[in-house]
Amino acid sequence: MNNFVVVRAELADVPAMAKLFTESFIASVLHHCGGRLPKPQAMQDVFTLVYQAEPAAALLAKDQGGQLLGYCFAPVGLNKLWWQALVGGHLFKWAWRWLSGQYGFGLHPVKILVLNKLAFLRSAVTPGKTANARILSIAVAEAARGQGIASALMLEADNYFRENKVARVRLEVRPDNRPAIRVYEKLGYYQEGITYDSQGPWLIMFKEIS
Ligand SMILES: CC(C)(COP(=O)(O)OP(=O)(O)OC[C@H]1O[C@@H](n2cnc3c(N)ncnc32)[C@H](O)[C@@H]1OP(=O)(O)O)[C@@H](O)C(=O)NCCC(=O)NCCS
Repeated sequence: MNNFVVVRAELADVPAMAKLFTESFIASVLHHCGGRLPKPQAMQDVFTLVYQAEPAAALLAKDQGGQLLGYCFAPVGLNKLWWQALVGGHLFKWAWRWLSGQYGFGLHPVKILVLNKLAFLRSAVTPGKTANARILSIAVAEAARGQGIASALMLEADNYFRENKVARVRLEVRPDNRPAIRVYEKLGYYQEGITYDSQGPWLIMFKEIS
């Protein structure tokens, strides 16, 4: 029997998800932020946007006591994210908080972030590589890894994709991320192409949902 449950996230879960993201992708966060951790508010604001763009796409694994063990963002409409960023006032709020020092980083990280997001967008609209449904981010707390939590989250994401009549899902993963690639291949994702950002290559993987 599993000692975790998979549930839909609520807005109140955002700070814990943002913390887990920072812990799980620490090298990438440090790379983007010039070698220093940003203030927690920065990542919480990004996660608030992602959550509000499509709340049903935010899946969590929690232990019996309600502690967060893992999360997966599996949006069926990635375009809603850009729309929400614009009309939801997020960009304005980010600019204000950044300028008033609430994120704890300067101009250089913003340049890297913008360039990487542009590379991401370019890759996302490349003919043959498009898919509006994504595994946008997934992470499991280090102490809880190897128990099938990521696999369970991905299976729940598949259910959500099916409910929404998604035909094809895309994700990106670093080529040296063996545990993640193992999970994705086990669940039917296959590699089709490669893209790059300032940190190096990403494998592009797809899955046909049936
Ligand atoms: C990738 C990640 C989400 C996997 O979470 P998890 O809950 O441990 O995953 P699962 O337990 O469902 O499956 C892990 C699989 O990887 C395998 N694995 C673990 N370490 C491995 C390694 N070094 N090489 C190859 N396979 C490995 C496990 O044996 C298991 O496969 P199995 O089910 O066939 O035995 C987790 O390691 C993580 O959060 N990493 C940091 C964040 C990250 O990299 N996210 C993915 C970004 S694309």
